[in-house]
Amino acid sequence: QKGGFDHFMLKEIYEQPQAIKNTLNGRVAKGEKIVLDKIADGDLKDISRVFIVACGTAYHAGLVGKTAIERLSGVPVDVDIASEFRYRNPILDKNTLVMVISQSGETADTLAALRLAKQHGCKTFAITNVVGSSVSREADFVFYTYAGPEIAVASTKAYITQLIALYIFALYMAQDRNYTDKETLENIKSELLLLPEKVKKALETDALTKEIAEKICVETDIFYLGRGLDYAVAMEGSLKLKEISYIHSEPYAGGELKHGPIALIEKGTVVIALNTNAELRGKMDSNIKEVVTRGARIVEILPDNFENAGEGCDELITVPATEAILAPVTAVVPLQLLSYHVAIAKGCNVDKPRNLAKSVTVE
Ligand code: F6R
Repeated sequence: QKGGFDHFMLKEIYEQPQAIKNTLNGRVAKGEKIVLDKIADGDLKDISRVFIVACGTAYHAGLVGKTAIERLSGVPVDVDIASEFRYRNPILDKNTLVMVISQSGETADTLAALRLAKQHGCKTFAITNVVGSSVSREADFVFYTYAGPEIAVASTKAYITQLIALYIFALYMAQDRNYTDKETLENIKSELLLLPEKVKKALETDALTKEIAEKICVETDIFYLGRGLDYAVAMEGSLKLKEISYIHSEPYAGGELKHGPIALIEKGTVVIALNTNAELRGKMDSNIKEVVTRGARIVEILPDNFENAGEGCDELITVPATEAILAPVTAVVPLQLLSYHVAIAKGCNVDKPRNLAKSVTVE
């Protein structure tokens, strides 16, 4: 059942290259228009605003989706936690697309958000992994991620395929709008098709993350730092760590450090720093220096094409370089592995962490 792996979580992490292929299959091909199931040309042409609504890990995928959709298609996107969205009287109309993201398709708050959107006359779009799930039955449009069953409570392959789904959606919205030039879109498409191989390569960080995990598993607080999309990935890395290893962990945006969190940094504090974006690298390097000066130990995640990488950091994890916008897909892999190995080193029940359920069908 676990295919030779000790835990479902590790098996599912290793299934990611294939899961990504399944999500891309039949939807993305070089030089061809993106095809989405049961969406006709023009169905989404009047959409002037998108709300992405989800919980937990799916919400973190949505944060990446916001940047991808806005950058490529120019359509403004809000991202909301489902339990907040449904009680805050969001401004919705018929030109708003409400997109829910849910691995299980059964999360109570996400389903309620979808119903609320329908009451307001919005078009609705569901990204889900479970064929025939409640959200898939109720939304106007459905995008199945086809990641295969996810058994471990901590979501890994579902998250990565949600990212892929969101990139495909962003490209779909872009191709109808002439906001981004065709060459850039083709480039991103080609890079998307390379991601299964790049994620496979990123899995080679397994042994290194295990070594690092054995050193940091004694910590009681671990911080994640990133800017831009790296901040969204930092949130996911931090959630993964806390849910399965029970280590307190917080993600921060690099630029926010000075506004409070830096007070928490002391000699020996472990900071996982994500630094995948060339445009933000200078800023992020300064943030890393700020915490190093205060005694932090840095684990830095970088793409393998950055020169002079890792100054001042204790551990350096490199992942295959890709388009900046797609970097979350490769960067999250060592974070998943790190959480897994920390939890194992602490003797935790990785696949069934305490107090958590795979599908949260009550509010
Ligand atoms: C974290 C995790 C949860 C789920 C959340 C939403 O690893 O699994 O945060 O992502 O409960 O679940 P779905 O996607 O089924 O709506």
